[in-house]
Parts: sequence; C-alpha cells; structure tokens
Amino acid sequence: MNLARTNLFQQKAYINGEFVDANSKKTFPVFNPYTGEEIAQVADCGAEETKLAIAKAGDAFKIWKTYTATKRGKILRRWYELQLEHQKDLAQLLTIEQGKPMAEAVGEIRYGASFVEWFAEEARRAYGDTIPGHQKDKRILVIKQAIGVVGAITPWNFPSAMITRKVAPALAAGCTVVVKPSELTPLSALALAVLAQEAGIPPGVFNVIPTNKAASVGEELTSNPMVRKISFTGSTAVGKLLLRQCADTVKKVSMELGGNAPFIVFDDADIDKAVAGAIASKYRNAGQTCVCSNRIFIQAGIYDEFIQKFTAAAKAQKIGNGLERGITIGPMIEEKAVASVELLVEDAIAKGASLLCGGQRHGGAGSLIYQPTILGNANPEMKVFHTEIFGPVAPVFKFKTEEEVLAMANDTPYGLAAYFYGRDYARLWRVAEALEYGMVGINSFTVSTTVAPFGGVKESGMGREGSKYGMDDYLELKYMLWSGVE
Ligand code: SIN
Repeated sequence: MNLARTNLFQQKAYINGEFVDANSKKTFPVFNPYTGEEIAQVADCGAEETKLAIAKAGDAFKIWKTYTATKRGKILRRWYELQLEHQKDLAQLLTIEQGKPMAEAVGEIRYGASFVEWFAEEARRAYGDTIPGHQKDKRILVIKQAIGVVGAITPWNFPSAMITRKVAPALAAGCTVVVKPSELTPLSALALAVLAQEAGIPPGVFNVIPTNKAASVGEELTSNPMVRKISFTGSTAVGKLLLRQCADTVKKVSMELGGNAPFIVFDDADIDKAVAGAIASKYRNAGQTCVCSNRIFIQAGIYDEFIQKFTAAAKAQKIGNGLERGITIGPMIEEKAVASVELLVEDAIAKGASLLCGGQRHGGAGSLIYQPTILGNANPEMKVFHTEIFGPVAPVFKFKTEEEVLAMANDTPYGLAAYFYGRDYARLWRVAEALEYGMVGINSFTVSTTVAPFGGVKESGMGREGSKYGMDDYLELKYMLWSGVE
C-alpha cells in the first residue's frame, strides 16, 4: 500500500469521534481479493460497542439537529472536498480491499463524494408546507424534522459510495448515524471516518462499527429503540430478515436490495451503442452490482450480429490486478462468489446454453477472477433467468415480439433497474412505462447519478437514495394544528 496520507489506513472502530479497539481487543483479517494477502487486522466489535455508539449518536443528535441547515451543509461540504482531495488514496484502499479496477474505484470515490456535495446543498431545502385550515379559526402547518439515530448497513461492492449515499442525506437532515460496513471491506469506511473527523463532523454524529459478527451488530441496530431508522443495501434475503427484526420497534426502513435487470435490444437499435452499453452494464465491478444487466434480451433480426460484436468486445476486456493500468475486470470478492457463478454457468450449459466465451477462472484453481462469460441461446428454464448472478456472466435470450420480451422482463420478483435500446419513439414510451422497475435506462446503460432517485420496486426494496427525494427518507412530517385564530 502506497498512500500519500498514511493515516487514512485505520484498523480501529470509530465511536464518538475516537478510533478505538474492540472491547475484547479482538481483530479480524481483511484480504486483498486479487493477491489473497492479508492487508489489515480490524477491530472486531460486537453488540456492546454498537450499543455504546448508538448511545453516543443519541447524545450527539440532541445537538446536531439544532445546528442550522447552513452550518450542517458547510461541514458536509468540507467532508466532500476532503474526499476529492484524497481520492487517489481512497481509491487505492478501495481497490486493494475490494478488487475493482482503479479507474472504477476513482469513479466510485467521486460518485460517493457527489452525494455529500449534493446533500450539503439540499440541507437548506427541507421545506415544509402550509395547508388552508378546515375551520375558520384553524391554521395548519407541516414541518419536517430529523428522524433521529440511523443505523446504516452497507455492502462490500461499493464500500465507499453506499456509505456516503446514506450518511450524507441523514446528516443533512439532522440525523446521526452508526454505520456497519461489510466485514470484507471495512477500510474504506474507516478512511471516510478519518476525513469526517477532519471535516469537523462532531463526535457521535458519524460512527463506524467494523465487525466480523454481522448478525449480533445487526441485531443490536435493529432492536435498539434509540435507533429510529435502518437503511440497508444488500441482498433481498438479508433485507427481509432486517425488516422482520425492525418490526418490533417499528423502525422506518430504506431497503436497497437485489436486482435482476433486463437489458433489451430491439431490431431498430444502434447495435454498436447497445453492445458498448451491454459490456459496461454487465461487466462493471466484475458484474457485482445490483443494477448490472442480468438477462440480455436481443430481438431475432439482430441476434447474430449482436452476439458476434458482443463476444468480440467481451474477449477484448483486460483482466487482472485492479491496481494495474488498463485493467477493466478485476477479481470477484471471495471464493463463494466465484463458486456460485460456476454453478450457474454449469446449470445453463446443462440446459442447452452455448458457451460463447469465458466460462472459467482466469489463472486456474483458487483464482478469484472469473473470465467475462457469454451464454448464447439462454432460456427461462435456466437458473440465470431467475437468480441475481452477481458476476461477469451474460446470458443472452432471443425474442420475437415486444409483448414476449416484456412478459419475460417482468417475470421476476425483483424490480430495481432495467435497460433497453431502440429508436421507435412510441415503443420507447410503451416499454418504459410497462417495465415494472424503479429505474429504467432508455438507450442508456446506467441509471446511477446523484441527481436522480435510486431505488427499486417489488422485492428490490423501498425508499429512494440521491436526488431531491433522498432526504425524505431521513425526515418525519409533523403537522401542527393552530386553533383559536379569531
Ligand atoms: C449497488 O450495486 O448497490 C449500487 C450501484 C450503483 O449505485 O450504481
């Protein structure tokens, strides 16, 4: 590791403005998924430290919520500037613990910082409302107030941006936060804590609890009555568990869960743009994002041409160590992730898919790099149709009509992102409206931007992150009825 700011590498928990050991003094290892080397021993916190962090966040809330929005915004702005100033170091840490190529890691740091910039500004726009009274002497006023202490449970695939996407709106609203980062990637979270401290975010307002005991920290966050809101990004299975756990204390929740994104290309599309889009959308972060294309549907008239160009482009990807210049696909996060992709590919081939490229690990057994893989002639009987693949595998399905492809695209409990390419204006509208997804890219391979509401429908979750709607998830409405205005 070659950081310009060496203190961005932190291995202790961040509670109430201080970097501290776990009470037990126990640590857990963090590995570089490309080399397999241990890169850190991080404080292994549990329920006790979580309880303390929640209590401190509760104390801090009493003060933080009274700051003017302008003051909170200025502190957030400083945090944003520091993230940009140290983006190279933050990106390097991210690549080392997560594996994604440096160019993507830098992109993630900027993307993550952009939420902090955005909500530093939005802090001042938590406007309320007045409503004409229902009786002559009545006046009605609606104000928005910070919910309170927030528990944020964040994933390994975006170790930095999924923290800022939750913490920035929460802090802007006046809430305080306890973050539990993934045990696979706690270093990016702790580096953000270093910069939060430097930016002047007061003690207790932002806390980071690294742990290898996700269940007990999650249990405390979801059962502690002082936590009024849980925001989670991760799998639908874990999201359902957290929802159940939150029920007893009736917490508000935001859930950004799994996806099964269709990527549809109609006969009249610009094929080269669609191919470039499919590559970017499928292989970003080695296929490990919840908005990656999961099922690629190509209309019959262009199927052969698309397949030929798509396969050539997949074969041209540069795979290897994300720290090296020009690499476009790095390792997957861990052995069980690669093993699960291997099983999906095996299943598809057994059910008639043709392997057009890839289909194995790069560098032999034990390597966590899975080659960019394309499966032709895919069909809905295959597990890849129903499962979130979360790896660099692209099953391609042939379709004839708009009705047929819409039925297949919507045939899933998920509803996060969908993409499609074409030119017929009326069809673009029809299809965009008919797709049962929270986000739809039309002639676009990405939907992720600070200024738009990110989130899903159906079993992909609830709540929205980013945009002018993003702060609502951290605010309560209070209505005041003024009476006796004679
Ligand atoms: C995710 O995979 O959870 C987020 C992806 C994104 O923000 O683009």
